[in-house]
Amino acid sequence: MMAAQKYETPALAVLPERHAAEMDLAARLAAQLRGKPDSVLGLATGNSMVGVYRALVEMHRNEGLSFARATSFNLDEYCGLPNGHPSSFASYMQDHLFAHVDMPRNSAHLPDENSCAEYEAAIAKKGIDLQILGIGRNGHIGFNEPGAAVTSRTRVVELAAATRAANQRDFPDGETVPTHAVTMGIATILSARSILLLATGEAKADALARALEGPITPDNPACFLRLHSDVTVISDRDAARFLSSTRTNTDA
Ligand code: F6R
Repeated sequence: MMAAQKYETPALAVLPERHAAEMDLAARLAAQLRGKPDSVLGLATGNSMVGVYRALVEMHRNEGLSFARATSFNLDEYCGLPNGHPSSFASYMQDHLFAHVDMPRNSAHLPDENSCAEYEAAIAKKGIDLQILGIGRNGHIGFNEPGAAVTSRTRVVELAAATRAANQRDFPDGETVPTHAVTMGIATILSARSILLLATGEAKADALARALEGPITPDNPACFLRLHSDVTVISDRDAARFLSSTRTNTDA
């Protein structure tokens, strides 16, 4: 069945270093918003996105970039954290973006473990114009860990041990990363009109090479992005180091 699929080659922009890659993603997101102020954005959290949101907040302050008519749907959220927990993705989004821009509070959505079907329906109704993604060291996108089905939709998943270890840095001393999270599925992500994936740092090099050049398999969820016809990967040189050299010369 998979063999009958047509695979795409995502556009690739390799920037010299991390900051330049973050600025590139921010500029593309800003261009989307300027071209279509009522854009529906799919948003990600994580370390990779901190500089992106910082740049967008600066563009809001200094260049009048407005989120007033935008709508957003975040990729994922931990299960079981109390409202306002500092390590929740809701707090992350508030701290890094929402508190600093003009997006109406009720236009920003995060998934909830108790209403996955409603979240999926709300996304289907609006349609995501632009989805931004980071990538896990194990190739996860959103919290679609290895093994996730290409047909998956918003649902509760068990986090991989490696993901919990990587994200422990975001939790206060004495608290552990939740075992479960709610995430958009692979099919939800692939329903976006266009997708931008940001990969920075050496730790992502293996996952990025497998995503773009490895076999298409649920063992490596990011490879499913090759089923979408409008994906751009933005990386720094460190994350691109295991890509074949012909590709790393290509600027998208
Ligand atoms: C976050 C998300 C995750 C991260 C990934 C990379 O909302 O969906 O897939 O994008 O874990 O995280 P960082 O950027 O912290 O390395």
